[in-house]
Amino acid sequence: MTTHTQAPYEPYEGAKLARLEEDAAAILARYPEHPRSGLLPLLHLVQSEDGYVSPDGIAFCARLLGLTTAEVSAVATFYTQFKRHPNGTYTVGVCTNTLCAIMGGDAIFDELAEHLGVGHDETTPDGAITLERIECNAACDYAPVMMVNWEFFDEQTPRSAVEVVDRLRAGEPVRPTRGASSVCTFKQMSRVLAGFPDGRAGEGVAAGERSLAGLRLAREKGWRAPGADDAGDGAAGGEAPTSAAAQGGRAPGRDTSVDTPSQPPSGGTADTATGREPSEEA
Ligand code: FES
Repeated sequence: MTTHTQAPYEPYEGAKLARLEEDAAAILARYPEHPRSGLLPLLHLVQSEDGYVSPDGIAFCARLLGLTTAEVSAVATFYTQFKRHPNGTYTVGVCTNTLCAIMGGDAIFDELAEHLGVGHDETTPDGAITLERIECNAACDYAPVMMVNWEFFDEQTPRSAVEVVDRLRAGEPVRPTRGASSVCTFKQMSRVLAGFPDGRAGEGVAAGERSLAGLRLAREKGWRAPGADDAGDGAAGGEAPTSAAAQGGRAPGRDTSVDTPSQPPSGGTADTATGREPSEEA
């Protein structure tokens, strides 16, 4: 039998503690049977307050869920979206996975690293930009891809990427290629990921034409996945794509530029973290 040492009470206090406890209660209400399932959104919540998963935040989550701080830390250190040191206002992630890399992702990262004077997972001295190498964002059809606080910037070049970070550092508005019409801060995005919509889910187009070309062709040809007749449109057997969830997808309701099926074409259900239907995934 495993015994756990209860985490010491965290030093959050006053209005901040009251605010966090109110929001945490809303999160845990989503998981009445299994409160520990609320750990990931709780970590996003403390990150939205502190700009990273702070020791205080770890202790806060541990106390709420009856876990040890070691157990909470084990989860927080597993996922790269959770930062263990103060993050910049904007996380600029350059995809250097295979396709993006050969399409220019490595060159973009190198250019940004030199321009900003920081390396992977490092933040500029003004606290504006945290630069990262990131893995595939399921946007290979728009390679090379860069993400700013998990919003897409498609088909980047070293020059265009530098222009984006310069505008961000200057406080100028920057519009992602797809998705929301502007880029919010890292703390704001963390709050959305904690499950508190910012009301911008319907902005922009989530899935571009290239991403939907296969779906369109399949419809024109009447192609269906094996086994589809047995269980309707959702019988391909796969589960909903999860990459957008891993990279910080947004709440339901975003429009697409084309008709989307009433059921996911791949047989899954709507992504539970983002609320997007799979047809909206890039
Ligand atoms: S390899 Fe970059 S989005 Fe897939």
